[in-house]
Amino acid sequence: MDDVVQKYQKRAQEAELKVQLLEKEVEGLVALLNGEDEPSPEMSALQLENTKLKHRLSILMRAIKREESASGSQSNPKSVPMKGEGMLSIQGILNDVFAEAIRNAYPDLPEAPVIIMPSSNAKFGDYQCNSAMSMAQALKAQGVKAPPREIAKKIQDNVPSNPLISKLEIAGAGFINITLKKEFGHELLKNILIRGVQPPPSEVKHRVVVDFSSPNIAKEMHVGHLRSTIIGESVCRLLEFLGHDVVRVNHVGDWGTQFGMLIAHLEDKFPNFRTVSPPIADLQAFYKEAKVRFDSDEDFKKRAYACVVKLQAKQPDYIKAWQLICDVSRKAFQAIYDRLDITLKEYGESFYHERMLDVVEHLKKGGYMEEDEGRQIMWADGCKIPLTIIKSDGGFTYDTSDMACVRYRVHEENGDWLIYVVDAGQSTHFETIWACAEKCGFIDKRKVRLDFLGFGVVLGEDKKKFKTRSGDTVRLIDLLDEGLKRAGEKLVEKERDKVLSPEELKAAQESVAYGCIKYADLSHNRNHEYVFSFDKMLEDKGNTAVYLLYAYTRICSISRNANVSPEQLREAAKNTEISLDHEKEWNLAKVLLRFPEVLVKITKDLLLHQLCEFVYEVSTTFSEFYDSCYCVEKNSAGEIVKVNMGRLLLCEATASIMAACFHILGLKPVAKM
Ligand code: ARG
Repeated sequence: MDDVVQKYQKRAQEAELKVQLLEKEVEGLVALLNGEDEPSPEMSALQLENTKLKHRLSILMRAIKREESASGSQSNPKSVPMKGEGMLSIQGILNDVFAEAIRNAYPDLPEAPVIIMPSSNAKFGDYQCNSAMSMAQALKAQGVKAPPREIAKKIQDNVPSNPLISKLEIAGAGFINITLKKEFGHELLKNILIRGVQPPPSEVKHRVVVDFSSPNIAKEMHVGHLRSTIIGESVCRLLEFLGHDVVRVNHVGDWGTQFGMLIAHLEDKFPNFRTVSPPIADLQAFYKEAKVRFDSDEDFKKRAYACVVKLQAKQPDYIKAWQLICDVSRKAFQAIYDRLDITLKEYGESFYHERMLDVVEHLKKGGYMEEDEGRQIMWADGCKIPLTIIKSDGGFTYDTSDMACVRYRVHEENGDWLIYVVDAGQSTHFETIWACAEKCGFIDKRKVRLDFLGFGVVLGEDKKKFKTRSGDTVRLIDLLDEGLKRAGEKLVEKERDKVLSPEELKAAQESVAYGCIKYADLSHNRNHEYVFSFDKMLEDKGNTAVYLLYAYTRICSISRNANVSPEQLREAAKNTEISLDHEKEWNLAKVLLRFPEVLVKITKDLLLHQLCEFVYEVSTTFSEFYDSCYCVEKNSAGEIVKVNMGRLLLCEATASIMAACFHILGLKPVAKM
């Protein structure tokens, strides 16, 4: 029997035992209660504990199943079960509860879908179970006629005792409207205030290698690379928050034939480059000059090719020249990463040079390559184009380096989840790489999760590909400068320069500038193209970073303005009930508590715009709450006469959830704006 499966099973057994013991205890208490309406706090706590354990148990069970089915009984040795409890997801628990109900009501329908969704309207309860309709279809297929309402009733009758549901109602075609117990909400919110925002419980800790940004040396980083950088960084932050082990890799294009012409040009322009560092200020211009010569001068072209050969043979002078050129680019890239607060480890194409030789060896031995007009190519089943492993001149290609790279990430970097954040145009390239890598035994797709995170192009306000007026690619550094300038103007327009100190103003300016650029990108479904518009992203209404950052700062200032210190709030969190009686308070609480389920969903599809939608919903729901519920009451003289601590706590929980979202999205809120 396999190690990991055994580990899970042991933990599952332990959890099951605990659940049983707790159930006994709860039963005893129920008997003691004897007709009392309100459960004692002790009993509520036990029931909550019981539910938590059951939820973890079901997560463990699912993990066991997946591990077992992954590869017979051969599971992935790299996946390690997660520790810790995490923030419970209401949807997750309801899922467990209704799965049990459906299992008990319809044991002959083991595949019945458990469909739980937050209700769109309080009229329909807090959540809904919408399984009955599709179950009616499934039963019909088995020749059993049952109206969905009847199925819903049977499910309802089988719902096990649990601490979070206060009422179930069947409505419409066969929906089950679920009303939650507010005590449960209290518990969960209190946890946020006391323990901070925790990730949802997760089954397995993965080692994730995320390939993002990945610009090309000597070429300007373009907006496509900006998208990759922003999306990749957020994906890494999300996965780190969830407790995974994340490696952030910059797969820089540093090893192509373009270095031949760059080095040849360097030799001519800076003949003493070996001793004196060449002052290349504008590498892009340098690249263009080299390219013109390469295209028009046969002798130069020949020399360029000879340089590539010498470079790839790692002759010291050529390596030196290559390094000099790479360093110039590296500095320019780093300036952008520093401003956007992004960290990456560089493993460029050159890193795989020796490993490419091994790949070729492996492919030759296995008979995977075939000759095609002097090239060595490799086909994979179901792929329309082959990889070019060796060019007719004997050189390697982008394909060769990505084959070596995928092998490295699994076997040396020990990744069991590989993510590539690259423009959508390269999706076929990666499909072919993965198919070939699987074919020749570099990866086993049942053990390694592979995600290609493509993204659409960035358009200018004219809806055409984003370019400068003269048709050049927009330099990212200029774009960031423009963002800073515009953010500064915006703050002055709002007369913030009159209330903030110069330092505060600068911090706010940077927060708004970089925040709005990141958020504009992340808030669009990454598969779609989007229009880059500073005017739109700097609007202070609607789903923009500016609106959210303002909203957050305002929420944080509520307790400060009520003269309640962070210490007092921390104390209050322990012994003051969070106020949830008002409809708007409860609405806000429910949105906040959806945080873990939103993250779980995003982990599946890696579409971060859903987190933007969520944090925007938090903010708008907060406004509705704040408009109808006084947190602080003042008399006509403007003096504070009453502070509603239970509501301040709700404000605190809102700020914490927003801060957690901001962290993942890379937004840096400031204390004053
Ligand atoms: N440098 C490439 C480009 O600019 C992106 C590299 C993506 N990563 C990879 N492993 N191929 O298009």
